[in-house]
Amino acid sequence: MTEDLAIADRLAASPSKGLSGHIAVPGDKSISHRALILGGMAEGETRIEGLLEGEDVRHTAAAVRALGATVTRLGDGLWTVRGAPWRSPDAPIDCGNSGTGARLLLGAAAGYPIEARFTGDDSLRGRPMRRVLDPLRRMGAETGESDTLPVTIRGGGLNGISYRSPTASAQVKSAILLAGLHAEGAVEVIEPARSRDHTEKMLRAFGCEVESEGNAVRLGAKRRLKATDIMVPGDPSSAAFPLVAALIVPDSEVTVYGMLANPLRTGLFETLLEMGADLDFANRRTVGGEEVADVTARSSTLTAVEVDPARVPSMIDEFPILAVAAACAAGQSLMHGLAELRVKESDRLAAILAGLRRCGVSAGIVGDTLMVDGCDGPCAGGADVATHGDHRIAMSFLILGLAARRPVSVDAAEMIGTSFPGFAGLMASLGARIGAAR
Ligand code: S3P
Repeated sequence: MTEDLAIADRLAASPSKGLSGHIAVPGDKSISHRALILGGMAEGETRIEGLLEGEDVRHTAAAVRALGATVTRLGDGLWTVRGAPWRSPDAPIDCGNSGTGARLLLGAAAGYPIEARFTGDDSLRGRPMRRVLDPLRRMGAETGESDTLPVTIRGGGLNGISYRSPTASAQVKSAILLAGLHAEGAVEVIEPARSRDHTEKMLRAFGCEVESEGNAVRLGAKRRLKATDIMVPGDPSSAAFPLVAALIVPDSEVTVYGMLANPLRTGLFETLLEMGADLDFANRRTVGGEEVADVTARSSTLTAVEVDPARVPSMIDEFPILAVAAACAAGQSLMHGLAELRVKESDRLAAILAGLRRCGVSAGIVGDTLMVDGCDGPCAGGADVATHGDHRIAMSFLILGLAARRPVSVDAAEMIGTSFPGFAGLMASLGARIGAAR
């Protein structure tokens, strides 16, 4: 069953009842990319447990290998990386669908006296790279004129920077910090709001001095990376799907063990609590410097919510699934400050709006605000939703199908493997009626 679901390129979800179970979700994507990249730059051998083995991270593993590190898979989620000074790769580096992989690797590579060409799939080649190339150019990297992939970078001999980032983006911040490890002089990034801080935390675990103060981050004098062991907790951006499913499917109770609960990542859960969700965070603990919890969700009667732009960075990837929760809630939800969603794996604002409308939910966009008129229970469903090759759009609308009146299918499901391999099988194990679309 699971194998069939893994290879199905079109999936459908039908109205379900009584989801139940205790599960773990795959490792956090942001932490997985960083563990491979920092491990590849460090002296010695880094051991990684719980690495996400989705396509995005596999591309980063191959990239780090092509840049000179020794990357070995020992078993499920168990990898080692022996770092080395990076060298010019023999062929262009393909980052696949991953903006995080591309932007962090561009930054890290810029610090070395090498030449490397980076490219990616159609979606990634359409995404903005200027946000990282501009500061890297200011630090002295040669990148050519193009602001989209493919980009050839010639690095080395970098100077420091004090960079005021126009967007709260962990990818931009991380690219500068990683380049800065090999730069002369002060390196500082100031953001308009705090983005996820996994790079800073992991740099410290690798022995670097990093100072955080408000929205500013600075590298200290100690910038040499020493190998360490990394435990990757479950990805909250993946846990969001079974947990929201439990909230909106009747008679459900689902627990996700060992989920990353870093407060810069849990904006969705705060929002769901404001909507009246029955959500429990238990057994909070620290694993490898990151906060982790076991999270239980039970079927809930949800009410509409208004999301302030200040909360957006802490739930930037969760708006597709929040829109699904809002579609089942009573009243009109408003989500403000969503301009960045237009430049994710797809134009997510447009994809959410079109998908909701196809499923019989009234929704609109004004400026960068999304409005969703909740159905106060199951919405119509009975639609085939266009994913635009976006994994999170695919998973979100399949979850909607579990709580709709009629089944929902998605036009492409293979991209789910970029971030959540085994999604359909895991959902089916909870009792979700999900399978190959006919
Ligand atoms: C990520 C940062 C976010 C997020 C992405 C992962 C990261 O992007 O959308 O999925 O790992 O740094 P931005 O930094 O562009 O907001």
